[in-house]
Amino acid sequence: MAGISDPNATSSAVATTRRDQVFAQAQTQVVDFAFNAAVADVFPDMLRRSIPGYETIISQLGVLARQYVPDGSRVYDLGCSLGAATLAMASQLRQREVRYVCVDNSAAMTERCALRLGRHLAADDFELICADITALKFQPASMAVLNFTLQFIAPEQRAALLQRIYQALQPGGALVLSEKIRFADAAQQQQIDELYLEFKRANGYSELEISQKRTALEKVMLPDTLETHLTRLKAAGFAQPVLWFQSFSFVSVLAVKIL
Ligand SMILES: C[S@@+](CC[C@H](N)C(=O)[O-])C[C@H]1O[C@@H](n2cnc3c(N)ncnc32)[C@H](O)[C@@H]1O
Repeated sequence: MAGISDPNATSSAVATTRRDQVFAQAQTQVVDFAFNAAVADVFPDMLRRSIPGYETIISQLGVLARQYVPDGSRVYDLGCSLGAATLAMASQLRQREVRYVCVDNSAAMTERCALRLGRHLAADDFELICADITALKFQPASMAVLNFTLQFIAPEQRAALLQRIYQALQPGGALVLSEKIRFADAAQQQQIDELYLEFKRANGYSELEISQKRTALEKVMLPDTLETHLTRLKAAGFAQPVLWFQSFSFVSVLAVKIL
């Protein structure tokens, strides 16, 4: 049984730590974005101010888990960062025996994640692995979460990863895939880009921060269209992936392995 000690663990999952000022100072040359210690230290604040609806998605993951995660099963949090998705699910599954497998290839993230999960979950309830999810040996699972992770995986590796997740899922199990998407239509893309810019400004980011972060992410985070995601999920075996959340270009798709 998940030994979660904090009944408000969903809110602690997205709790704000230090303010994100990673791109606040002018850089002579903007280097590619990395999930390093400087980012990990401010990550909850960065996610909350950069992803419209992040807190909603995180808390709803707990609701989705109630539906798809039976007692005695395993859940994967892939690209777990600081474990926000795991904590949200665990807070809703306190009566069930669930094994959380949290994987991230950033040591800065997993070191901090270990402390965070350790504060809320019993040691036997989770396993934290610092590894590349594209090389992971999956065990049978009831649910897998890719919360804004697939966009950082090389495009040519995405289909194979989804296929391996599909194979690992038990019948009736679910994958939740959250991503920033791009739009095939240029006018739609521009409209959404402008709204997103206002979202970032409204959340206190300066023009310099916005532009330097955009440059840093350019080669590292490669969004697909929603259609590409849905087609890829179907090719992996998920018969009816459904869009359950969207805010501007940020979406979350639920893909169930039909019995
Ligand atoms: C945007 S963050 C995910 C946020 C997190 N899932 C949440 O809901 O708070 C993307 C994470 O994926 C991790 N990541 C990127 N590529 C990875 C890979 N190939 N294997 C494992 N983790 C990866 C990064 O280190 C980073 O922590």
